[in-house]
Amino acid sequence: MRPLIITEGKTKLSVPEHNEVFFNPQMKLNRDITISIVNAWPKKGAFCDTLSGIGAKGIRVANETDIEHVLLNDLNPHAQRFMKKSITLNNLDNVSIEKKDANILLSEHKYDKFDIIDIDPFGSPAQFIDSAIRAILPKNGLLCVTATDTGALCGSFQNAALRKYGIKAKKTTFYNEFGVRALVGFCVREAAKYDIALIPVFSHATRHYYRVFLKTERGRTAATKAMKMVGHIGYCYTCDMRKYNHTGKCCNRDVEVLGPIWQGKIYDKKLVRKMEPVSSEAEKLIMLCTEESEFVTPYYNIHAIEKKHKIKAGSFKKIIASLGKASRTHFSNFGIKTDAPFRTFIRTLFQQQQQQR
Ligand SMILES: C[S@@+](CC[C@H](N)C(=O)[O-])C[C@H]1O[C@@H](n2cnc3c(N)ncnc32)[C@H](O)[C@@H]1O
Ligand SMILES: [Zn+2]
Repeated sequence: MRPLIITEGKTKLSVPEHNEVFFNPQMKLNRDITISIVNAWPKKGAFCDTLSGIGAKGIRVANETDIEHVLLNDLNPHAQRFMKKSITLNNLDNVSIEKKDANILLSEHKYDKFDIIDIDPFGSPAQFIDSAIRAILPKNGLLCVTATDTGALCGSFQNAALRKYGIKAKKTTFYNEFGVRALVGFCVREAAKYDIALIPVFSHATRHYYRVFLKTERGRTAATKAMKMVGHIGYCYTCDMRKYNHTGKCCNRDVEVLGPIWQGKIYDKKLVRKMEPVSSEAEKLIMLCTEESEFVTPYYNIHAIEKKHKIKAGSFKKIIASLGKASRTHFSNFGIKTDAPFRTFIRTLFQQQQQQR
């Protein structure tokens, strides 16, 4: 079991040659974005990397941001060797290590709360969110959550969605945005019972995972307000119409009522503007997220719409220009975001088609 040393960002990491402890180089963007957010975040006290594997994310946060203290935790008995080696490689004096069950560790921090908590498990984060909320500062805390059970959240596995998140999920043409909004909605519902509001400040769906960052706000009023942003979405499989809190008929059949999901913005534009990208991939993502940050209606997949309505809408640039308030989206290369009413959106596509003739 010889450890290897790699460099990720500005940090040296001791990584396993075999798979005795978890390390996935493909999650670099997840860590890059976390670095940008922590750097842009006003409170940089204690960061808990709750399920840290070899500690890649926490070690990078300790080395590449002004955080005061990082706690690395992983149950795997082999993890500490890699954590310790990386701490030495980067001369860090602001990192400590634990080997506890994540929920027990978080419960022990009920009175000694963290400014920032990262939850990055295998599969679903659902079982860790409640204890994370009890261990995070109730005001201006930052909860960072990764989910790799995208099949449950986006509606491919409907029973898993119901069991783990208490939602009705079904695959739509905006499945990954549905998944991100379902994850945000779940976290908001978990926090509300403690009179804590969770508000998303940055979210992305990348490759096989969803990642959401939520800030805490204390108080009954804030928690109630957040809960009122969690609700259902009506979706028509025939014409692709989607609308929050919508029931009834569309195209002569009942719309599918899915959710509950988060219906509000999934970015804090001010924060996103402060985020300094640490890689070209992160730069591209942050740029797209800035563009789409104002829109709350799930994106339209233009190819799906063209097929359903038998049209050829033409260039994305022109569609966005004709809509006025619209943007591209990081969720899909074929996606367009707009909060225009559905009929206006479809009419614009038809006008676009006519202009091409
Ligand atoms: C997906 S990996 C974490 C990856 C890491 N955040 C990174 O960026 O490389 C999940 C880790 O959680 C650990 N783990 C699983 N269940 C746990 C639990 N109940 N308490 C603490 N650690 C746990 C596993 O050993 C594994 O290393
Ligand atoms: Zn319809």
